[in-house]
Amino acid sequence: MDPAMAAKIKQAVVNNFEQSPDVYQAFEDEFGFFHALTTELIRPMSLPGQAKVLDVGCGSGASIGPLLRALPDGRIWGLDISPAMLEKARDKYGDEERVKLILGDAAQLTRYVDPGFDAVFYTASIFLIPDYVLSLQEAHGLLKDGGVAAATFIDGIYDQSDRNALAQAEESAQTGISFKKPVVFDELKAAVKARFTLVEMRTVDFACSMPMLKAFYSIPAQSAGLYPKLDYQTRLDMINRIFSLMPEEGLVFRWHILAGLK
Ligand SMILES: C[S@@+](CC[C@H](N)C(=O)[O-])C[C@H]1O[C@@H](n2cnc3c(N)ncnc32)[C@H](O)[C@@H]1O
Repeated sequence: MDPAMAAKIKQAVVNNFEQSPDVYQAFEDEFGFFHALTTELIRPMSLPGQAKVLDVGCGSGASIGPLLRALPDGRIWGLDISPAMLEKARDKYGDEERVKLILGDAAQLTRYVDPGFDAVFYTASIFLIPDYVLSLQEAHGLLKDGGVAAATFIDGIYDQSDRNALAQAEESAQTGISFKKPVVFDELKAAVKARFTLVEMRTVDFACSMPMLKAFYSIPAQSAGLYPKLDYQTRLDMINRIFSLMPEEGLVFRWHILAGLK
């Protein structure tokens, strides 16, 4: 992607997350979704107990908890571009000896940390990083031989007939959802394959309730992904409208998991 365009998208992402920490944390406290997502990411991996892990886009730290639990003697470096999100992570993990928190950009990882990582995880973040190709290159440089780079990637909400529920509802509601995303999954997959040996690619359908999905898309940053040009209150109104048109039961929240070996 053209660097000027990447910088513009990145600035919008930062602005959106600067407005998000409280709502994000309230969502996570109620539903524990990002904890579950990171747990799913690392579930099949056999990392050494003393692993050194870089959590790219650690946000408020929801992904750090499961990493600490899975790696009792491991050390976690959490990096995020949003000062407000990172502040929340500091509230939780600032005093934890095994955690180091860094304010920084995923495209310049080697500026902040030295090589020697067992894993670089993009925990619900890579789909927000327009220059992910650069970031993967940086991650590759930081990993030990045999180290793993892995990511969770949001797809969307699907109904019982496996139709995209947001797209279905938007057909009748016409609220102006933007389906354009900064990162296209197939292009990301190709970029991982170009630099790593692809060792895992799976889709996970999380069973979820309507209140959970609505709360997720009501996080300022998530709602801005759907309606980038609207103010927050108008976005919430649109979200209420669109979700009122979706089936109450049988929806799944679909994510993809990708992992590459150095
Ligand atoms: C959906 S949140 C995920 C946070 C956390 N990993 C979790 O599982 O709850 C995405 C995070 O990625 C961060 N992010 C987005 N673009 C980034 C970039 N270029 N460099 C570093 N962090 C970035 C955002 O600031 C945000 O905190």
